Amino acid sequence: MSFRTQPLPPARLNRCQLFGPGSRTALFEKMAKSAADVINLDLEDSVAPDDKAQARANIIAAIGDIDWGDKTLSVRINGLDTPYWYRDVVDLLEQAGERLDQIMIPKVGCAADIYAVDALASAIEAAKGRDKRIGFEAIIESAAGICHVEEIAAASPRMQAISLGAADFAASMGMATTGIGGTQENYYMLREGQRYWPDPWHWAQTAIVAACRTHGVLPVDGPFGDFSDTDGYVAQARRSATLGMVGKWAIHPSQVALANEVFSPSHEAVTEAREILAAMDEAKRSGAGATVYKGRLVDIASIKQAEVIVRQAELISAPA
Ligand code: COA
Ligand code: MG
Repeated sequence: MSFRTQPLPPARLNRCQLFGPGSRTALFEKMAKSAADVINLDLEDSVAPDDKAQARANIIAAIGDIDWGDKTLSVRINGLDTPYWYRDVVDLLEQAGERLDQIMIPKVGCAADIYAVDALASAIEAAKGRDKRIGFEAIIESAAGICHVEEIAAASPRMQAISLGAADFAASMGMATTGIGGTQENYYMLREGQRYWPDPWHWAQTAIVAACRTHGVLPVDGPFGDFSDTDGYVAQARRSATLGMVGKWAIHPSQVALANEVFSPSHEAVTEAREILAAMDEAKRSGAGATVYKGRLVDIASIKQAEVIVRQAELISAPA
């Protein structure tokens, strides 16, 4: 083990991030009443250029007017390659109340993108006397973003989470697909004439998870476009959870319960994790570094795996 220990990510739930366009105010109350852990009000690609200013005003009003409960409240600003982003940051931090938790920065390509928003946010917070330091989440959705994902994760103490944005990522990479995430018809292996469909998102997800885990940031899977394909969403979410991601976006309310289900440890998993911790406690007391649980080896590494599950269960059952 390196002498540098791995920092823990923020201790909060992030099983589902529900998105809604800042221009569709009728959705805001519904989003607030949903079961999503994180709400992302959007100023970027779901809002047309002519609607940007109105959407900003809508969101600033809604941050103060709506009861968002104990959810993490985030606003996705426009990309740094647009003329809109600085006004998004300035208006949000000058005019919105302290209930706002995070700013989501899309299409991040390098650490300097985070630095630029950090510098602007820091100046406004100081000028306005804002007590709460706003957190950042970033979307990796370009070739540059995935190449620089580790420096992006490390770019600021404000960094809370990083998501994979499959659609823009595919476009930037020149991938031959128009789907948003999921199985890709032409990405298959052949064995004895049978086709098998591996996961083309796997390596990007793994790179994001590794960068996030190194720097104490939450790794999150992004959108799954076909919201009528429940099985496809669940399969993608299960793969992400297996790789270490903590949650997934919902672009329609029907996806929220699916994400919560996949990213909450089952009762059996929590019971087993607690039993492993108890077995290892017992082993340590007798001076052993490993023991046998249900016929298989458990050792010091199993403690860490079990602790992740128990910590997640405790967050879910903690009173709001
Ligand atoms: N959050 C909360 N509620 C939502 C919602 C959302 N994102 N999207 C739809 N609903 C509500 C609808 O208002 C409707 O409510 P009702 O039963 O009270 O009438 C219900 O859920 C069913 O909606 P439906 O008719 O199936 O969807 P729609 O045609 O109104 O909207 C989308 C479909 C995809 C356009 C819409 O879900 C949406 O805008 N999603 C977010 C897009 C986004 O933010 N993208 C950026 C990130 S990729
Ligand atoms: Mg995008």
